[in-house]
Amino acid sequence: MMRSIVVVGSQWGDEGKGKVTNYYSAKADIVVRYQGGNNAGHTVKFDGQEFHLQTIPSGIFNEKTLNILGNGMVINPISLYSEMKTLLDAGFKLNNMVISSRANVDLNYHLELDGLKEAHLKDKKIGTTKKGIGPCYTDKISRDGIRFADFIDEDFPKIYAEHLKEKNEEIARYGGTPIDLEKSLKEYEKLSEFFKPYVKETVSILAKAKKASKKILFEGAQGTMLDIDFGTYPYVSSSNSSAGGAITGSGIGIGYIEGVVGIVKAYTTRVGEGPFVTELFNDLADNIREKAHEYGVVTHRPRRIGYLDLNQLRYSRNVNGFDYFALMLLDILSGIDEIKVCTSYELDGKIIDYVPASLKETYRCKPVYVTLPGWKEDISKVRKFEDLPINAQNYVKFIEKEIDAHACLISVGPDHNETIIKEDIF
Ligand code: IMP
Repeated sequence: MMRSIVVVGSQWGDEGKGKVTNYYSAKADIVVRYQGGNNAGHTVKFDGQEFHLQTIPSGIFNEKTLNILGNGMVINPISLYSEMKTLLDAGFKLNNMVISSRANVDLNYHLELDGLKEAHLKDKKIGTTKKGIGPCYTDKISRDGIRFADFIDEDFPKIYAEHLKEKNEEIARYGGTPIDLEKSLKEYEKLSEFFKPYVKETVSILAKAKKASKKILFEGAQGTMLDIDFGTYPYVSSSNSSAGGAITGSGIGIGYIEGVVGIVKAYTTRVGEGPFVTELFNDLADNIREKAHEYGVVTHRPRRIGYLDLNQLRYSRNVNGFDYFALMLLDILSGIDEIKVCTSYELDGKIIDYVPASLKETYRCKPVYVTLPGWKEDISKVRKFEDLPINAQNYVKFIEKEIDAHACLISVGPDHNETIIKEDIF
């Protein structure tokens, strides 16, 4: 049984991380979000009520679980405040939540610039969520960011004013409307007061927890193929959304992570632009989209749909080092006669077993498919692997063999209970 695990999306996000992190966070003493911001989003059902979480980790509903918003995150205080307000109004005390003093603040000029830069790129646009994520990480890396330690400092108005002056010049260069200093400061100063009790140094909190053998869950957002280093660059988000981000985005020592669970959707989806080797443009794609409600939670865009890409998944397994994976939305594939899975790519007549770094090459890759027999039965009531139709079992086993990892959890429906626990690992 592992005591500190990273749960990471293995594809382009939206793999069903919400359900898995909710399952594991119920067993965790600490849940840490380590990258991204409110570009992520999932709905959590608790006590018959539905809550929409974008920035807050999924352990928030259990008052004994400490939720850390890690230093690797970019946090929009306006959006986080409204997320917290909904929970406070619903009776949650939120004294089980802290924000790393090293986390970067996603500010109004970042949002403005995100939209302006996308418009400027025209048909080369990334298709971002327009939440300011890229511009905020850009400032962090160019050492021009504002962190939560600064946000709650008495000097914040001065620091913000200096930054805004420069950012307004950039906004004007893109043809945008400059942001009003006084109006912004009025709102941010109120929020700065509100957030003071939540902002803490979190490396020491994690170190003490580790020493006391507490169970720690690192909750990834987005997915490996959206990782700034390993994804389909430049059609990616701006953080390390693969498991490595858990180390740098939380301050936990690398030696303290005991395992990684990759979240794998039984087919593939992506939102936004960029290459997608196994993408489908047929009725099957439309049927899957409607059956599984494949529309973005944050932007409501229809998701692009494709067959499972094991070549990409093997790459993702290597990047993250996951020995275990949670297979999600298997029920959606029920009723399909034959299911194709991509096992490698053909690039310019050669078979390759990796994902190319070059965008041009990736666009030229053709999927090499193996066809597996499907199953007709409704599997949503199945709770034991052995009770799945034999072809569904074989689908899982085929993935396990191809990517050299074990399925520890299989989701057969959206509900918490519609889950097969194949191996208890945390
Ligand atoms: P950004 O993160 O807003 O900069 O968007 C960059 C790319 O990542 C776009 O293709 C987005 O659609 C995608 N993206 C960002 N967050 C998520 C997510 O949580 N799920 C799926 N795609 C995402």
